[in-house]
Amino acid sequence: MTSSTGRVAATRVIMLAAAGLLSSCTDGGLAPGAERSNANEAEITERMIAAIEEITLARAENGVVPRLNQAKSLGCFNAEFTVEENLPAHLRHGLFAQPGTHPGLVRFANASAADDRDKDFRGMSIKVFEVDGEPLWGEAGQQDFLMNSHPALFASNPDEFLSFIDATADDALWKFFINPLNRDSVAILLNGREAINSPFDIDYWSTTPFRLGPDNRVAIKYAALSCTALPGEQPENADADFFRTVMQQQLAGGQACFDFMVQHQQDPDAMPVEDASVVWDEADAPYQKVATITIANQEFSSAAAMQACDSQRFNPWQALPEHRPLGGINRVRQAVYSEAGEFRLQQSQR
Ligand code: HEM
Repeated sequence: MTSSTGRVAATRVIMLAAAGLLSSCTDGGLAPGAERSNANEAEITERMIAAIEEITLARAENGVVPRLNQAKSLGCFNAEFTVEENLPAHLRHGLFAQPGTHPGLVRFANASAADDRDKDFRGMSIKVFEVDGEPLWGEAGQQDFLMNSHPALFASNPDEFLSFIDATADDALWKFFINPLNRDSVAILLNGREAINSPFDIDYWSTTPFRLGPDNRVAIKYAALSCTALPGEQPENADADFFRTVMQQQLAGGQACFDFMVQHQQDPDAMPVEDASVVWDEADAPYQKVATITIANQEFSSAAAMQACDSQRFNPWQALPEHRPLGGINRVRQAVYSEAGEFRLQQSQR
């Protein structure tokens, strides 16, 4: 499966490598903050994009092509992203260099469930506006953070993610599940799904690492930990869209809140950059708070608001150089999100 968009994507990955942005290591172990790219990443990216286009087109309903992941929007919220005052020097980089409040947008989503009562992963997509500095990709003045409700990604690397996507495209997910090599991935896919009362009440993690600042020995992960005061309660007559009702009730009683945190890699073997399925141990690498996200009471669930919400696009590479995405999963995501998002919106307009 080869698409023209895929070829563009593959070229981008090669260009990144050629620009020396990927440092490789031949001795098996990696230095702190270092990455190791694989020769087949451009090809994997191309195959991923082609498969994602095939899957999402097949899932289109009423002329609307859905996202591959995080398909059901639960709501988009205007938010405030307030960087802490008096941060220590090692945290004062990029967006966190200056204390103060930025306007933001947060989109919550179910990863795959159409019914809010089902167990699922949830996504939290954050866009921060009025950001100084040129991003690596995308719109000037914006910084995105894409977060998932489980700290470990089910796939260690792009190869594993591709085998999952390929099995999905072939409508043969069982092949992925019965392969003994995928035992750990399957455990994360089964155990990471949870039933929740409200997307405002749970914690989210980047799962993949990022740079923080100019020092290429530094790698970090992000978390957004709920500090929402009023917990959501599932109503007795909860329906498939009950999160909207609960979130609206919570906002009427006080704002939703998340502490935005950073975790520094300590040991590159125990806290790898190239394996997104490994959770970095908080006992050895505690999270430190850099900002607070607040969401005040607002109307978010009208048909127009939900449609505007679905047309939002996020990309981990919509980031300042100080927050550069690291690791194979992040490397392939630049082209995957850009091409998949464009494909989805173009096809949906037909
Ligand atoms: C190679 C690995 C991955 C692939 C191929 C992938 C693929 C995708 C695709 C195709 C979309 C839909 C994009 C669109 O149509 O606009 C998406 C959305 C999303 N993904 Fe991933 N993903 C990967 C890893 C991750 C990771 C590690 C996270 C975070 C922990 C993540 C979180 C999200 C979120 C939050 C969204 C929704 C974005 C939005 O609100 O528009 N993904 N992903």
